[in-house]
Amino acid sequence: LAVVSGGGDLDGLRVVVSTGGTREPIDPVRFLGNRSSGRQGAAVALAAAERGADVELVAAHVDDGVLDAAAAHPRVRLTRASSAQELQEAVVTIAGESDVVVMAAAVADYRVAGTSDTKLSKKGDEGLSLDLVQNPDILAGLVEDRVPGQTIVGFAAETAPTEEELLSKGRAKRRRKGVDLLAVNEVGWDKGFESGENLLVFLDARDEEIARSHGSKRRVADALWDAVLTIRGSR
Ligand code: CTP
Ligand code: CA
Repeated sequence: LAVVSGGGDLDGLRVVVSTGGTREPIDPVRFLGNRSSGRQGAAVALAAAERGADVELVAAHVDDGVLDAAAAHPRVRLTRASSAQELQEAVVTIAGESDVVVMAAAVADYRVAGTSDTKLSKKGDEGLSLDLVQNPDILAGLVEDRVPGQTIVGFAAETAPTEEELLSKGRAKRRRKGVDLLAVNEVGWDKGFESGENLLVFLDARDEEIARSHGSKRRVADALWDAVLTIRGSR
């Protein structure tokens, strides 16, 4: 019963967390996807629930078992989405009622123009070009429609040769997105995605680094909520 009644430092907070990678259909059997496992977002959702928040978890495609713990928590409601457009619809529908929105999903920047209703067949020995169109920027839309008192958090997975460049890319993205908090992490072929450990640097709305956290995805998830509490408390 203790678990249902909360009693944590996020008690009563209504949060939306998106996670996983979107899939953009090419035809009925093929898609464009990405390597996001959904682990970090699932950890963010579970951490929030365990600290007392009411959590709406909107999950795109994730690795097997990643959602199990969060989905089993009584304060987490799970919604599934596949493409970027479906994810946007799911998030926007509930965002208006929430205090904090965390966009941890890896949203495809492009989708295939003119998806085929029938399975594409090879044509002779020619190559194939796909026309791509840009997907809506879900985060930018959330910021535009932000309700009073709402905190909007974005993630930025970047590749950069130095920490300096990583942070300057992060600051530029923070400004471009207009989010209240940006969690920046370095990714590479062997970093970030699919791994159990993560390093996040948190930039606030003045582009200041207010915290950083290194460790398990759960540990950095807790650091994210600490940072959210810090910025909500200081405005
Ligand atoms: N995001 C989103 N909608 C998109 C693309 C990204 O809401 N169509 C969100 C992601 O969930 C993440 C943040 O925006 O929280 C940053 O994503 P990222 O891919 O780093 O930013 P982009 O603006 O797409 O820039 P880039 O050209 O670097 O990919
Ligand atoms: Ca992108």
